[in-house]
Amino acid sequence: MKHIVLIYGGRSGEHEVSLRSGAFIYRNLKKGGFLPIPVGISREGNWFLQHFAEEPADILPLAEETRDRISLTPGEGLTTADGTPVPCDMVFPVIHGTFGEDGTLQGLLEMLNLPYVGAGIQSSVLGMDKICAKQIWESDGLPVVPYRSLSRAEKNSPAWKERDFFGECSEALGLPLFIKPSRAGSSVGVTKAVNEASFYEGVENALKYDREILIEKSIAAREIECSLLGNRDARIFGPGEIAPSHDFYDYEAKYIDPDGAALLIPAPLDETLKEKIRDTARKAYSSLKLNGLARLDIFLEKDSERFYINEVNTMPGFTSISMFPMLCAAEGLEGPDLIRELIELGREEFELKNELIYKK
Ligand SMILES: Nc1ncnc2c1ncn2[C@@H]1O[C@H](COP(=O)(O)OP(=O)(O)O)[C@@H](O)[C@H]1O
Ligand SMILES: [Mg+2]
Repeated sequence: MKHIVLIYGGRSGEHEVSLRSGAFIYRNLKKGGFLPIPVGISREGNWFLQHFAEEPADILPLAEETRDRISLTPGEGLTTADGTPVPCDMVFPVIHGTFGEDGTLQGLLEMLNLPYVGAGIQSSVLGMDKICAKQIWESDGLPVVPYRSLSRAEKNSPAWKERDFFGECSEALGLPLFIKPSRAGSSVGVTKAVNEASFYEGVENALKYDREILIEKSIAAREIECSLLGNRDARIFGPGEIAPSHDFYDYEAKYIDPDGAALLIPAPLDETLKEKIRDTARKAYSSLKLNGLARLDIFLEKDSERFYINEVNTMPGFTSISMFPMLCAAEGLEGPDLIRELIELGREEFELKNELIYKK
């Protein structure tokens, strides 16, 4: 387990974040004695082998040189334009959002028969889809924020004209309402509606990012996050707390405004409540059959002990100010050991899969 192909960048709106997360992984792979082989995916979706003239700092550069263009061949793996094989004992795909965290990249790696770090296809798909994840958690008796869903097809159907969807949602869930695409990230397409006009505006907007959207009851909440590590059963770190200085934890607060949010590690909560939150996070993890790693986000009602699972991220941010690695480090699992453990979990999963019989 020496050559670790670090795939970063990608086609999603979280390309920039991935360059930063990639730098953390690259640095810690080296510290841990691995040989990182950086492969950047451009915004257009092309893959390029990278050569760094100097040690990258906080952002991994991504050069698009024709001679370094990567080809993928089932049975042969990764090669450069002149047919040179790229050595690969394990893939570390640190790509967030669509085409990275949603099962597509995982499917490609499975077809190439390459071992990789993080969630498999099934749990990536479910973790990315907020409606599917909620349905599973609900059926396992776990607390989720009350919601309604809507598809583009329903909105285009003749029955839509007869429907008072705003009335249905506001009556069931109150006001304001949160509207979001079922599969997106980084708060893209997420809006808060306070009246009928902003509600329908939010619905139209969210439908630009996915054909299915959800409308949620607004929770006056503290945002609590746990890091989880493991295959099905997780070791848990945290919880920590995100205290956004904006109306909510929007794109601006996450990535643009340097004072957009404060990270409190550990979250200032009493131990009994923390244990309840950890217990729910652990159950939510195995309920989606997650493996590798995840960050589970929870809404804790202000001035109460009631909490709901908000969402799971199967490839959370790894930037220098990201909650996931910071929670691990605060409990003694520093970068190189964290990376080693993730690689070990990927290897374990790959070996188990290869023990299965696929033919008669
Ligand atoms: N139901 C809700 N009540 C209150 N705030 C919410 C609600 N849903 C989302 N938010 C706010 O919007 C942010 C982004 O929403 P989230 O569901 O986490 O989407 P993303 O996958 O884009 O991170 C949350 O961190 C929170 O600040
Ligand atoms: Mg979120």
